[in-house]
Amino acid sequence: MNFIGVDLGTSSVKIVIMTDAGEVTASVSKDYDVSYPRLNWAEQNPEDWWNATKDGIRDLVKSSNVDGASIKGIGFSGQMHGLVILDKGGKVLRPSILWCDQRTQEECDYLNDVIGQDRISQYTGNMALTGFTAPKILWVRKHEREIFDNIAHVMLPKDYIRYRLTGVFATDVSDASGMLMLDVKERKWSKEMLEILDIKEEMLPKVYESWEVTGRLTKEVAEYTGLTEDTVVVGGAGDQAAGAVGTGIIESGILSVALGTSGVVFASSDNYEVDEANRLHSFCHSNGKWHQMGVMLSAASCLKWWIEGINKDVQAEGDVFHQLLEEAGNAAVGSNGVVFLPYLMGERTPYSDPNAKGVFFGINITTNRADMTRSVLEGVCFGLRDSLEILKSLNVPVEAVRVSGGGAKSLLWRQILADIFGVKVQVISSKEGPAYGAAILAAVGCGKYKTVDEACEKLIKVTDSVDPIPENVEKYNKIYKIYNKLYPTLKDCFKEVSKL
Ligand code: XUL
Repeated sequence: MNFIGVDLGTSSVKIVIMTDAGEVTASVSKDYDVSYPRLNWAEQNPEDWWNATKDGIRDLVKSSNVDGASIKGIGFSGQMHGLVILDKGGKVLRPSILWCDQRTQEECDYLNDVIGQDRISQYTGNMALTGFTAPKILWVRKHEREIFDNIAHVMLPKDYIRYRLTGVFATDVSDASGMLMLDVKERKWSKEMLEILDIKEEMLPKVYESWEVTGRLTKEVAEYTGLTEDTVVVGGAGDQAAGAVGTGIIESGILSVALGTSGVVFASSDNYEVDEANRLHSFCHSNGKWHQMGVMLSAASCLKWWIEGINKDVQAEGDVFHQLLEEAGNAAVGSNGVVFLPYLMGERTPYSDPNAKGVFFGINITTNRADMTRSVLEGVCFGLRDSLEILKSLNVPVEAVRVSGGGAKSLLWRQILADIFGVKVQVISSKEGPAYGAAILAAVGCGKYKTVDEACEKLIKVTDSVDPIPENVEKYNKIYKIYNKLYPTLKDCFKEVSKL
């Protein structure tokens, strides 16, 4: 028996084949573009996701020499919150407005201030944030009325792929939590919230748990990909919940940190918990429980911007990435006084502010490129620490963190994270994170494991751990205090510069 995990990310779709013993035997990745039509807007074409996914599955099945009939199930991990809207014929009505798009501040102000944050939180467990799906629907209603009037189906990115694979409209509780329309406590659509938004429940997909079977492949898809019409498609999960399954974060004590395009600190909890001020997102987990998390909009993308954007012309002996990270490893802890604020796309946690901007603070005549590269790595970890501090203030136990995502590959970054968090940082056997979690969900749905927790306990093994270095912890504690003062000090300037 084999299973497929599809991780529909922001820059690419990554697809893995996992055996029933939990071993990843083949993987493929296909890229697509993000378009930024205006500052802080981000869109993608759902057809690009679909082409990449269907071709990815086909190529993977072909090149791996795995018998298509042995692949019993497909699970998803999906970039969250993106708005996909279809007309009644199933045609996509406009490009998807993505999780990192910040155009909906007015709609969020209406929901939080006019309807009231307390009410919204009572119905959904969260406050309105610009990335979430519901404010995007209000934006389309206000700015693109003709399109809005033709909407027959509203869904999330991975659920569009499910629709193309199976013809079924369905979603899962973890991803649906980020739409601001789910009653997270009860794990079903919130009637009150749908009334506030004036949205009919028929427009929304049916909600499943992440491991439940939602449908089977259509004949055309089975023929195209080399799979069979018996292959089931399970609910899947939002990328953070899927990543948590893929790294074994299924109970409290160990946090997941994702160093992907976004940066996330994630804690699983047995019960539904909401921080009174809604500083953290309170969502359903994909194992039947719940989780709380803080989300930075730019994490590994800050490093990508710094290396592939700003430093793209550097003459390196080998790979520029490698060279700049090596330099950064030789720079002093604390980057010679340079502090980087990672708010390249505005920010979500802890400052819900589309106007927030990136900053290199503390540059002096001796600052060099190595200091600046290192400060980018450090700044992202300070941003993550903001979420860690909120979790600690809510008495969430923190014994260790498990890191995943592209950034986790760098030992230097893992050490900096351990030093800035003051806890040990683990990595696990599988490097596939969310795609692996997605495949595990499929294995549970096909009956290979009784529960998601049982699958994680059997499959996930810690392979490496980095301990914090006490003198670095002390130094970073001091710098974190400075980092913490910078956003409040610059907040008004960010707003002014955004108006220019
Ligand atoms: C989670 C979030 C990101 C995106 C993209 O709330 O916004 O994890 O799903 O990775």
